[in-house]
Amino acid sequence: MRVEDAKILEALPKLEVELRRGVSLAELTYLGIGGTTDLLRINGHESIPELLNLLDENGVAHKFLGGGSNLLVMDGELAFVVLQLGQPNPDVVIEGNIACVDAAADLGKTVTFCAKHNLGGMEGLIGVPGTVGGALRMNAGAYGTQIGSYVREVKVYRAAARKLETLKGEEISFEYRHTSFAPDDMMLAVKLELPSRPYPEILQGIRLCNEKRRASQPLGQKSAGCIFKNPPGASAGRMIDELGLKGHAVGGARISDRHANFFVNTGHASAADMLGLIADVRKRVRQVYGVTLENEVVVWNA
Ligand code: EPU
Repeated sequence: MRVEDAKILEALPKLEVELRRGVSLAELTYLGIGGTTDLLRINGHESIPELLNLLDENGVAHKFLGGGSNLLVMDGELAFVVLQLGQPNPDVVIEGNIACVDAAADLGKTVTFCAKHNLGGMEGLIGVPGTVGGALRMNAGAYGTQIGSYVREVKVYRAAARKLETLKGEEISFEYRHTSFAPDDMMLAVKLELPSRPYPEILQGIRLCNEKRRASQPLGQKSAGCIFKNPPGASAGRMIDELGLKGHAVGGARISDRHANFFVNTGHASAADMLGLIADVRKRVRQVYGVTLENEVVVWNA
């Protein structure tokens, strides 16, 4: 979709929004799949309500993009524009045991930055790709750590109320790969309360998690991490593996040989290939185990 409306084009600089024409979502997502559209880069939180009102009044459909690490986007010209937060500098400020983090900050870099200030707890999240905002929305987790456990406060744009709000950690429910945020809420910033620990100790934990991840996940390949959520008490990866599906492919979309819940783009996978593989695996798992696997990957198909 292209932004053509003169009123919008004129307003964007005043709203601190930068327009990038015809960007490829394949280049902005870890899966390397997705069509083209205009991207609006937002460089100030305060103007977001005005920007969103303007887009809504003029019938410009839009979606919020975080780091693109857990996202499958359809091919071709997309029927919506994409909004993304610009990254402030600095994107993390430490105040005692509190890390004030912009939602656009890279999660891994945030973990390391906090560690250098002797703030730990998030070691398990070190290799999780994407932004802090994306991690918050999904309550990202790994190796026994979930980001939600450390959230003291979140600044969010609430599309339903059309305003910026600051929510206390207690007002948000963080469950396994699920939060109480509305789908169109836009994460803007977070205050994380982290335990004090000596840097060398945190670093040791970080190294251990990195090693475990390297040993079990296809890190150098184009993927969206785990495709399915784990069903209660089970591992989707183990179930798919037990069905002998490692290496199974639909077009350019292939189940990783290293971890069966990682589906990789071997080079030229289309969105249809990836969706086809997801549907095929879901069907086979249902037939054998009687369990319907739920997507962890977010699909933008409209
Ligand atoms: N397993 C297999 N074959 C496979 C994959 C796994 O037999 O192909 C077995 C493993 O040997 C292990 C068990 O299944 O006994 C669990 O595997 P793993 O430790 O890799 O954990 P997982 O449940 O598959 C979850 C998260 C990962 C996270 C790891 C580490 C989900 C859907 N996945 O994977 O998160 O990195 O634990 O904590 O919750 C993600 O969310 O995208 C993601 C990759």
